Amino acid sequence: MADLRETKPRGLVIAIDGPAGAGKSTLASRLARRLGYLNIETGAMYRALALKAIENDVDVDDERALLDLALSSKISLEPQIDGNRVKLDNTDVSQRIREKDVTEAASRVSVHPAVRAWMVNKQRELGSAGGVVMEGRDIGTAVFPNAEVKIFLDAAPEVRGHRRFHQANMAEPSAAVLAEMRARDERDRTRAVSPLVAAQDAVLLDSTSMTLEQVIETAEEIVKEKIAKAVNCEL
Ligand code: DC
Repeated sequence: MADLRETKPRGLVIAIDGPAGAGKSTLASRLARRLGYLNIETGAMYRALALKAIENDVDVDDERALLDLALSSKISLEPQIDGNRVKLDNTDVSQRIREKDVTEAASRVSVHPAVRAWMVNKQRELGSAGGVVMEGRDIGTAVFPNAEVKIFLDAAPEVRGHRRFHQANMAEPSAAVLAEMRARDERDRTRAVSPLVAAQDAVLLDSTSMTLEQVIETAEEIVKEKIAKAVNCEL
């Protein structure tokens, strides 16, 4: 494939949305590296706030308390070659936020409209200069509805469950763990504000029977086409 850096105008926003375990993080970091863009993993921000709630004994169902906590927190993402280093109040929490209790709490923290509004503002700031691959659940619908490229990456639930666990170098997920993942998916898809849904103008990519390399190749083709269109529009 042609070197994308030679063809892109400066500062596109590439939005990658989809459920957990579809392969968004790997795809986003590979695309970002290829393009020389920043890779922003928005789920890590919800996870960091959830961790802060756990550490401060704040109820994850208490929207007002969570917002106060967010306002007094410093959450930063430092894009690295493979994903983001995540800092909460200057402490590296990149590993801790992947643990089970934080995963569960993040899912509950993310349903609150006030929390989402705070997150969306931060995420818009992070992407304001363009040149980002931002991944999450609502990037193409709420954070950057005008993103030049939108990909909705999906896969069958069983496949996603197994990928998540292989990623974490863990044994096969039990039926109970898969059920928990489905419950979190359900919460994402049915929450009142910014539910997980593909933007109308997103390209849908079902990775159920694709290898990682195939997903990346297909996504690169999508990006290349969109970049070519963006360049033509500018001429
Ligand atoms: O992608 P992840 O598993 O790290 O996300 C953690 C939680 O945050 C997950 O329950 C969904 C939620 N989330 C969200 O609601 N909106 C985003 N843009 C990113 C994540």
